[in-house]
Amino acid sequence: MVSRRKFIISSTVVGAGLVTGFKPDIKDVGFSINQQQNQPVVISTWQHGIEANEVAWEILLDNGRALDAVEQGVRVTEADPNITSVGYGGYPDRDGNVTLDACIMDENCNAGSVAFLKNIMHPISVARLVMEKTPHVMLVGEGALRFALANGFQKENLLTAQSKAAWEKWIKENNYTPYKPDEKNHDTIGMIALDKNGNLSGACTTSGLGFKMQGRIGDSPIIGAGLYVDNEVGAATATGLGEAIIKIVGSHLVVEQMRMGKSPTEACKVAVERLLKKVKGFSDIAGFIALNKQGEYGGYSTNFGFQYAVYSEGENKLINSEFAK
Ligand code: GLY
Repeated sequence: MVSRRKFIISSTVVGAGLVTGFKPDIKDVGFSINQQQNQPVVISTWQHGIEANEVAWEILLDNGRALDAVEQGVRVTEADPNITSVGYGGYPDRDGNVTLDACIMDENCNAGSVAFLKNIMHPISVARLVMEKTPHVMLVGEGALRFALANGFQKENLLTAQSKAAWEKWIKENNYTPYKPDEKNHDTIGMIALDKNGNLSGACTTSGLGFKMQGRIGDSPIIGAGLYVDNEVGAATATGLGEAIIKIVGSHLVVEQMRMGKSPTEACKVAVERLLKKVKGFSDIAGFIALNKQGEYGGYSTNFGFQYAVYSEGENKLINSEFAK
Protein backbone atom coordinates (compact mmCIF):
# COMPACT_ATOMS: atom_id res chain seq x y z
CA MET A 1 0.00 0.00 0.00
CA VAL A 2 1.27 3.49 -0.83
CA SER A 3 1.71 5.42 2.40
CA ARG A 4 -0.23 8.64 2.84
CA ARG A 5 3.00 10.52 3.52
CA LYS A 6 4.61 9.42 0.22
CA PHE A 7 1.38 10.21 -1.57
CA ILE A 8 1.32 13.75 -0.27
CA ILE A 9 4.99 14.43 -0.74
CA SER A 10 4.65 13.62 -4.44
CA SER A 11 1.96 16.27 -4.87
CA THR A 12 2.13 19.91 -5.86
CA VAL A 13 -0.03 22.75 -4.60
CA VAL A 14 -1.42 24.78 -7.48
CA GLY A 15 -4.03 26.87 -5.71
CA ALA A 16 -5.95 27.25 -2.49
CA GLY A 17 -7.41 23.87 -1.65
CA LEU A 18 -6.48 22.30 -4.98
CA VAL A 19 -3.81 19.71 -5.58
CA THR A 20 -2.56 18.04 -8.72
CA GLY A 21 -0.22 15.16 -9.34
CA PHE A 22 -2.43 12.55 -7.70
CA LYS A 23 -3.84 9.42 -9.23
CA PRO A 24 -6.40 10.17 -11.94
CA ASP A 25 -9.40 8.85 -9.99
CA ILE A 26 -9.12 11.64 -7.43
CA LYS A 27 -11.65 14.46 -7.67
CA ASP A 28 -10.57 17.93 -6.59
CA VAL A 29 -13.91 19.08 -5.24
CA GLY A 30 -14.86 20.37 -1.82
CA PHE A 31 -18.36 18.94 -1.70
CA SER A 32 -21.18 17.75 -3.87
CA ILE A 33 -24.90 17.35 -3.46
CA ASN A 34 -26.75 14.08 -3.48
CA GLN A 35 -30.24 15.41 -3.89
CA GLN A 36 -32.12 12.20 -4.55
CA GLN A 37 -33.87 11.05 -1.42
CA ASN A 38 -32.73 7.82 0.17
CA GLN A 39 -29.48 7.66 -1.74
CA PRO A 40 -26.82 6.39 0.66
CA VAL A 41 -23.53 8.19 1.24
CA VAL A 42 -20.48 7.19 3.25
CA ILE A 43 -17.54 9.45 3.94
CA SER A 44 -14.34 8.70 5.86
CA THR A 45 -10.99 10.22 6.67
CA TRP A 46 -7.74 9.70 4.73
CA GLN A 47 -6.80 7.39 1.92
CA HIS A 48 -7.44 4.32 4.04
CA GLY A 49 -11.09 5.38 3.94
CA ILE A 50 -11.33 4.13 0.35
CA GLU A 51 -11.08 0.47 1.38
CA ALA A 52 -13.24 1.00 4.44
CA ASN A 53 -15.92 2.70 2.35
CA GLU A 54 -16.14 -0.34 0.05
CA VAL A 55 -17.41 -2.51 2.88
CA ALA A 56 -19.70 0.19 4.26
CA TRP A 57 -21.19 0.85 0.82
CA GLU A 58 -22.17 -2.80 0.30
CA ILE A 59 -24.13 -2.69 3.54
CA LEU A 60 -25.81 0.60 2.63
CA LEU A 61 -26.74 -0.64 -0.86
CA ASP A 62 -28.30 -3.70 0.69
CA ASN A 63 -30.70 -1.51 2.71
CA GLY A 64 -28.42 -1.89 5.73
CA ARG A 65 -28.37 0.43 8.66
CA ALA A 66 -25.79 3.25 8.69
CA LEU A 67 -24.69 1.99 12.11
CA ASP A 68 -23.73 -1.42 10.68
CA ALA A 69 -22.04 0.24 7.71
CA VAL A 70 -19.75 2.43 9.80
CA GLU A 71 -18.88 -0.33 12.25
CA GLN A 72 -18.03 -2.83 9.53
CA GLY A 73 -16.28 -0.17 7.45
CA VAL A 74 -13.80 0.93 10.07
CA ARG A 75 -13.10 -2.66 11.08
CA VAL A 76 -11.26 -2.95 7.75
CA THR A 77 -8.82 -0.27 8.85
CA GLU A 78 -8.53 -1.65 12.38
CA ALA A 79 -7.43 -5.03 11.00
CA ASP A 80 -4.87 -3.65 8.52
CA PRO A 81 -1.34 -4.13 9.93
CA ASN A 82 0.08 -1.57 7.50
CA ILE A 83 -1.90 1.33 8.93
CA THR A 84 0.20 2.53 11.83
CA SER A 85 -2.35 4.87 13.38
CA VAL A 86 -5.35 2.55 13.84
CA GLY A 87 -5.88 -0.86 15.45
CA TYR A 88 -3.58 -3.78 14.65
CA GLY A 89 -0.14 -2.45 13.72
CA GLY A 90 -0.85 0.93 15.31
CA TYR A 91 2.18 2.56 16.85
CA PRO A 92 2.44 1.92 20.58
CA ASP A 93 2.87 4.37 23.42
CA ARG A 94 6.39 5.24 24.51
CA ASP A 95 6.46 2.16 26.74
CA GLY A 96 5.61 -0.16 23.86
CA ASN A 97 1.90 -0.74 24.63
CA VAL A 98 -0.63 -0.51 21.79
CA THR A 99 -3.65 1.22 23.36
CA LEU A 100 -6.77 1.87 21.33
CA ASP A 101 -9.58 4.41 21.47
CA ALA A 102 -12.89 4.27 19.60
CA CYS A 103 -16.45 5.53 19.67
CA ILE A 104 -19.69 5.04 17.79
CA MET A 105 -22.99 6.88 17.63
CA ASP A 106 -26.33 5.97 16.05
CA GLU A 107 -29.38 7.80 14.75
CA ASN A 108 -31.10 7.79 18.14
CA CYS A 109 -28.35 9.66 20.00
CA ASN A 110 -27.09 6.40 21.47
CA ALA A 111 -23.34 6.42 21.97
CA GLY A 112 -20.64 4.00 23.05
CA SER A 113 -16.95 4.44 23.59
CA VAL A 114 -13.79 2.68 24.75
CA ALA A 115 -10.42 4.15 25.57
CA PHE A 116 -7.00 2.85 26.60
CA LEU A 117 -8.09 -0.60 25.45
CA LYS A 118 -5.29 -3.13 24.96
CA ASN A 119 -5.08 -6.39 23.01
CA ILE A 120 -8.43 -6.18 21.23
CA MET A 121 -8.36 -5.98 17.44
CA HIS A 122 -11.73 -4.26 17.03
CA PRO A 123 -12.33 -1.56 19.63
CA ILE A 124 -15.17 -0.15 17.52
CA SER A 125 -17.21 -3.31 18.07
CA VAL A 126 -16.54 -3.15 21.80
CA ALA A 127 -17.71 0.48 21.74
CA ARG A 128 -20.90 -0.64 20.01
CA LEU A 129 -21.51 -3.24 22.69
CA VAL A 130 -20.95 -0.63 25.41
CA MET A 131 -23.67 1.38 23.67
CA GLU A 132 -26.06 -1.51 23.26
CA LYS A 133 -25.48 -3.67 26.32
CA THR A 134 -24.58 -1.34 29.17
CA PRO A 135 -26.17 1.66 30.86
CA HIS A 136 -22.92 3.58 30.21
CA VAL A 137 -21.34 5.49 27.34
CA MET A 138 -17.64 4.96 28.01
CA LEU A 139 -15.46 2.18 29.41
CA VAL A 140 -11.70 2.51 29.71
CA GLY A 141 -8.62 0.39 30.34
CA GLU A 142 -8.96 -2.76 32.38
CA GLY A 143 -12.73 -2.41 32.68
CA ALA A 144 -13.12 -2.10 28.91
CA LEU A 145 -10.89 -5.14 28.39
CA ARG A 146 -12.83 -7.22 30.92
CA PHE A 147 -16.09 -6.22 29.25
CA ALA A 148 -14.69 -7.18 25.82
CA LEU A 149 -13.46 -10.58 27.02
CA ALA A 150 -16.77 -11.26 28.77
CA ASN A 151 -18.48 -10.64 25.43
CA GLY A 152 -16.41 -13.07 23.41
CA PHE A 153 -13.56 -10.91 22.11
CA GLN A 154 -10.16 -12.59 22.05
CA LYS A 155 -6.90 -11.15 23.37
CA GLU A 156 -4.41 -10.56 20.57
CA ASN A 157 -0.93 -9.09 20.22
CA LEU A 158 -1.44 -5.88 18.27
CA LEU A 159 2.24 -4.92 18.06
CA THR A 160 3.55 -6.01 14.66
CA ALA A 161 7.24 -6.47 13.80
CA GLN A 162 7.02 -3.18 11.84
CA SER A 163 5.47 -1.15 14.66
CA LYS A 164 7.86 -2.66 17.20
CA ALA A 165 10.83 -1.71 15.03
CA ALA A 166 9.47 1.83 14.63
CA TRP A 167 9.07 2.12 18.41
CA GLU A 168 12.62 0.84 19.04
CA LYS A 169 13.99 3.36 16.56
CA TRP A 170 11.92 6.13 18.16
CA ILE A 171 13.22 5.22 21.63
CA LYS A 172 16.81 5.50 20.40
CA GLU A 173 16.26 8.84 18.71
CA ASN A 174 13.85 10.66 20.99
CA ASN A 175 15.06 10.39 24.54
CA TYR A 176 11.57 9.31 25.76
CA THR A 177 10.06 12.68 24.81
CA PRO A 178 6.40 11.86 24.10
CA TYR A 179 5.45 14.25 21.32
CA LYS A 180 7.00 16.27 18.56
CA PRO A 181 4.55 18.12 16.29
CA ASP A 182 6.47 17.19 13.16
CA GLU A 183 5.77 13.47 13.67
CA LYS A 184 2.06 13.88 12.86
CA ASN A 185 1.33 10.19 13.30
CA HIS A 186 -2.34 10.19 14.26
CA ASP A 187 -4.32 9.51 11.12
CA THR A 188 -7.50 8.29 12.77
CA ILE A 189 -10.26 6.78 10.70
CA GLY A 190 -13.55 8.54 11.26
CA MET A 191 -16.51 7.41 9.15
CA ILE A 192 -20.02 8.80 8.87
CA ALA A 193 -22.85 7.44 6.76
CA LEU A 194 -26.39 8.13 5.62
CA ASP A 195 -28.50 5.05 4.86
CA LYS A 196 -31.46 4.46 2.54
CA ASN A 197 -33.84 5.17 5.41
CA GLY A 198 -32.28 8.61 5.77
CA ASN A 199 -30.58 7.78 9.07
CA LEU A 200 -27.10 8.88 10.06
CA SER A 201 -24.45 7.10 12.17
CA GLY A 202 -20.74 7.48 12.78
CA ALA A 203 -17.66 5.64 14.03
CA CYS A 204 -14.17 6.75 14.93
CA THR A 205 -11.20 4.55 15.88
CA THR A 206 -7.47 5.05 16.44
CA SER A 207 -4.32 3.91 18.17
CA GLY A 208 -3.79 7.58 18.94
CA LEU A 209 -0.68 9.64 18.83
CA GLY A 210 2.35 7.44 18.16
CA PHE A 211 4.71 7.07 21.16
CA LYS A 212 2.36 8.99 23.44
CA MET A 213 2.64 8.97 27.21
CA GLN A 214 1.05 5.92 28.78
CA GLY A 215 -2.63 6.61 29.48
CA ARG A 216 -2.94 9.43 26.96
CA ILE A 217 -6.38 9.61 25.37
CA GLY A 218 -7.09 11.72 22.30
CA ASP A 219 -10.29 13.08 20.83
CA SER A 220 -11.36 9.91 19.04
CA PRO A 221 -13.29 8.20 21.87
CA ILE A 222 -14.72 11.47 23.19
CA ILE A 223 -18.31 11.97 22.04
CA GLY A 224 -18.54 15.51 20.68
CA ALA A 225 -14.80 15.83 20.06
CA GLY A 226 -13.87 12.96 17.71
CA LEU A 227 -17.42 12.23 16.56
CA TYR A 228 -20.92 13.58 16.80
CA VAL A 229 -24.18 12.54 15.16
CA ASP A 230 -27.51 14.33 15.34
CA ASN A 231 -29.97 12.56 13.11
CA GLU A 232 -32.04 15.73 12.64
CA VAL A 233 -29.07 17.67 11.29
CA GLY A 234 -25.93 15.80 10.34
CA ALA A 235 -22.78 14.08 11.52
CA ALA A 236 -19.13 15.01 11.81
CA THR A 237 -15.87 13.35 12.73
CA ALA A 238 -12.30 14.51 13.28
CA THR A 239 -8.72 13.51 12.65
CA GLY A 240 -5.43 15.02 13.68
CA LEU A 241 -4.03 16.22 16.97
CA GLY A 242 -6.57 15.10 19.55
CA GLU A 243 -5.46 17.54 22.23
CA ALA A 244 -6.46 20.46 20.01
CA ILE A 245 -9.72 18.88 18.82
CA ILE A 246 -10.85 18.16 22.39
CA LYS A 247 -10.29 21.80 23.37
CA ILE A 248 -12.88 23.03 20.88
CA VAL A 249 -15.20 19.98 21.11
CA GLY A 250 -14.72 19.93 17.36
CA SER A 251 -17.24 17.47 15.93
CA HIS A 252 -20.10 18.82 18.00
CA LEU A 253 -19.19 22.31 16.87
CA VAL A 254 -19.38 21.20 13.23
CA VAL A 255 -22.83 19.66 13.71
CA GLU A 256 -24.10 22.77 15.50
CA GLN A 257 -22.85 24.92 12.63
CA MET A 258 -24.79 22.75 10.19
CA ARG A 259 -27.85 23.14 12.43
CA MET A 260 -27.49 26.89 11.98
CA GLY A 261 -27.51 26.48 8.21
CA LYS A 262 -23.88 26.13 7.22
CA SER A 263 -22.95 23.64 4.51
CA PRO A 264 -20.77 20.71 5.68
CA THR A 265 -17.60 22.31 4.27
CA GLU A 266 -18.42 25.69 5.79
CA ALA A 267 -19.18 24.05 9.14
CA CYS A 268 -15.85 22.20 9.13
CA LYS A 269 -14.12 25.47 8.23
CA VAL A 270 -15.63 27.19 11.28
CA ALA A 271 -14.23 24.43 13.51
CA VAL A 272 -10.77 24.69 11.94
CA GLU A 273 -10.77 28.48 12.33
CA ARG A 274 -11.88 28.14 15.96
CA LEU A 275 -9.08 25.66 16.60
CA LEU A 276 -6.44 27.85 15.00
CA LYS A 277 -7.66 30.86 16.98
CA LYS A 278 -7.94 29.15 20.37
CA VAL A 279 -5.10 26.63 20.42
CA LYS A 280 -2.02 28.76 20.73
CA GLY A 281 1.11 27.54 18.97
CA PHE A 282 -0.73 24.83 17.04
CA SER A 283 1.70 23.41 14.51
CA ASP A 284 0.25 19.99 13.76
CA ILE A 285 -2.67 18.98 11.53
CA ALA A 286 -6.37 18.62 12.33
CA GLY A 287 -9.24 18.05 9.96
CA PHE A 288 -12.98 17.51 10.01
CA ILE A 289 -15.43 15.83 7.67
CA ALA A 290 -19.19 16.26 7.77
CA LEU A 291 -22.33 14.88 6.20
CA ASN A 292 -25.78 16.40 6.54
CA LYS A 293 -29.25 14.91 6.47
CA GLN A 294 -29.62 15.86 2.79
CA GLY A 295 -26.54 13.84 1.81
CA GLU A 296 -24.30 16.88 1.28
CA TYR A 297 -20.77 16.35 2.49
CA GLY A 298 -17.53 18.23 2.93
CA GLY A 299 -14.29 18.58 4.82
CA TYR A 300 -11.77 21.15 5.91
CA SER A 301 -8.35 20.93 7.55
CA THR A 302 -5.81 23.17 9.18
CA ASN A 303 -3.13 22.28 6.63
CA PHE A 304 -2.53 21.05 3.15
CA GLY A 305 -2.45 17.26 2.89
CA PHE A 306 -5.69 16.08 4.42
CA GLN A 307 -7.81 13.82 2.23
CA TYR A 308 -11.14 12.11 2.69
CA ALA A 309 -12.88 9.29 0.88
CA VAL A 310 -16.48 9.55 -0.31
CA TYR A 311 -18.67 6.78 -1.68
CA SER A 312 -21.85 8.16 -3.24
CA GLU A 313 -23.84 7.57 -6.40
CA GLY A 314 -21.90 4.35 -7.01
CA GLU A 315 -18.48 5.98 -7.03
CA ASN A 316 -15.75 5.78 -4.37
CA LYS A 317 -13.39 8.73 -4.65
CA LEU A 318 -10.61 10.41 -2.72
CA ILE A 319 -11.00 14.15 -2.22
CA ASN A 320 -8.32 16.68 -1.39
CA SER A 321 -9.69 18.69 1.48
CA GLU A 322 -9.78 22.42 1.45
CA PHE A 323 -7.47 23.82 4.10
CA ALA A 324 -6.63 26.94 6.04
CA LYS A 325 -2.90 27.33 5.48
N1 GLY B 1 -7.06 12.10 16.56
C1 GLY B 1 -6.43 11.01 17.15
C2 GLY B 1 -5.69 11.30 18.37
O1 GLY B 1 -5.19 12.40 18.55
O2 GLY B 1 -5.55 10.40 19.18
